[in-house]
Amino acid sequence: MNAPIRGRQTTIGAALDRAAASLGTAGVEQPRRDARLLLAETLGGGAALITGYPERRLDAADVDRFAVLIRRRSAREPVSRILGRREFWGLTLRVTPHVLDPRPDSETLVEAVLARIEDRDAPLQVLDLGTGSGCLLLALLSELPWARGLGVDISPSALANARENARILDLSSRAEFRRGDWGRELVGSWQVIVSNPPYIMESAIADLAPEVARYDPNRALSGGADGLVAYRSLVPQAARLLGPGGILALEVGAGQADEVEQLLGAAGLLGLCRARDLTGTDRCVLATSKAGISANTIG
Ligand SMILES: C[S@@+](CC[C@H](N)C(=O)[O-])C[C@H]1O[C@@H](n2cnc3c(N)ncnc32)[C@H](O)[C@@H]1O
Repeated sequence: MNAPIRGRQTTIGAALDRAAASLGTAGVEQPRRDARLLLAETLGGGAALITGYPERRLDAADVDRFAVLIRRRSAREPVSRILGRREFWGLTLRVTPHVLDPRPDSETLVEAVLARIEDRDAPLQVLDLGTGSGCLLLALLSELPWARGLGVDISPSALANARENARILDLSSRAEFRRGDWGRELVGSWQVIVSNPPYIMESAIADLAPEVARYDPNRALSGGADGLVAYRSLVPQAARLLGPGGILALEVGAGQADEVEQLLGAAGLLGLCRARDLTGTDRCVLATSKAGISANTIG
């Protein structure tokens, strides 16, 4: 942020204008919105304070705190990472640097799975492979009051973040988190298996927006040379762990649905449907076990 803000008296309106201009220069997509969010955080008030009292003076400490946040955003750190939290499926999740910043697109998977569950009061067992912040598992558990879940991740730091989110959301008694390489070491049977594996082609990562390329962990992004490496590992494992009539839901990258469905078929699963995100892109594929097609978990 430009120097004149620091150490000088300024108003909410003027600070906002200057910060939005700085963020715009830095290439931030929605500079005014982000400046408003960060100013609201600085002042500990809602948007109403900012829009309602543009003439109010900021004290020096607020000016300095705001400048720090704007500097971070100018370096293209996402607002959610600066705030350390993100809304997902109506839940407020803590987001540390060790996990993928949960995306609104991933709510497509949650919605698609819930649409297939006939009895939301059933005591379902839910498995989330590559749980990250725990967003998918915790969103599902928040809607399925008698379900229990296991979240698996290769990253111990991600698991710590997911456990903390479960505790904050009061879901710890129904959510367990365990380190693992997808489902390799697991035995048992789950009625719902979900996964949002890393699916970006390694060569494409550098070209992503700086908010993604610099701040999401590579382990959460890279799907290897063709983007499909994680699916090749986890699909056969998920097929082995899916109970009769269970649902397997996988998030996919743009253009990957056909190939992932082929992997599902090769693993002996039956494709059910695809779900599109808000841009109309196939974002999720759902499958079930052929043996259990008549079982009543799925609608
Ligand atoms: C795209 S992120 C998804 C995180 C979260 N489920 C979400 O939707 O925001 C993929 C996650 O898979 C984890 N992961 C990568 N390789 C893994 C492996 N071999 N076994 C288990 N988890 C893995 C990463 O650490 C990361 O948390």
